[in-house]
Amino acid sequence: MVEVRAFDGDDWPAVWRIVEPVFRAGRTYAVATDVTEAEAHAFWVEKPASTFVAADPDGRILGTYFLKPNHAGPGDHVANCGYIVDTDARGRGVASTMCRHSLREAADRGFRAMQYNLVVATNEAAIAVWLREGFEIVGTLPGAFRHPDHGCVDAHIMFRALAR
Ligand SMILES: CC(C)(COP(=O)(O)OP(=O)(O)OC[C@H]1O[C@@H](n2cnc3c(N)ncnc32)[C@H](O)[C@@H]1OP(=O)(O)O)[C@@H](O)C(=O)NCCC(=O)NCCS
Repeated sequence: MVEVRAFDGDDWPAVWRIVEPVFRAGRTYAVATDVTEAEAHAFWVEKPASTFVAADPDGRILGTYFLKPNHAGPGDHVANCGYIVDTDARGRGVASTMCRHSLREAADRGFRAMQYNLVVATNEAAIAVWLREGFEIVGTLPGAFRHPDHGCVDAHIMFRALAR
């Protein structure tokens, strides 16, 4: 059983341990592979409207996500999230649980839709989860992501409306 709760400042070391290898790998997020811990904290915690963690019954953090408006002003009714699951905890539905939580949270805050801006086409696990959670691929950006193994690969924009 995984519980999703609001991020607390004390959670950062555990969250950094989970997100750092993902950023360093450069395979899924458009974040510099040499990002500093302070920059990562700004990206994941300070700039978003809210950050959440998914924890197991012992309190071990298994994953994390942020929630923010995708754009400002007249675009701020569309939400954007980023999700990362600890390598050891993958394939157990943690991302699905966080995605469903984020959809409820965004709807509760009055957002009308959720958009993911750069879902790397080689990221099959992510695409599988987001499709299952009701997202559609509304567009594909040719060669928009420089993958360390595959060179320039496509990236999808994924979108779904939120129930009011
Ligand atoms: C993408 C990510 C968040 C998924 O987390 P997770 O907790 O393992 O996801 P879930 O367990 O909820 O679901 C994984 C699904 O992907 C499927 N999957 C895993 N690897 C796959 C692959 N190579 N090809 C196709 N499907 C795959 C699993 O079978 C599972 O679907 P199922 O439950 O129908 O069997 C996680 O891999 C991660 O943190 N990756 C690095 C960061 C990232 O890519 N974030 C998303 C950016 S858009």
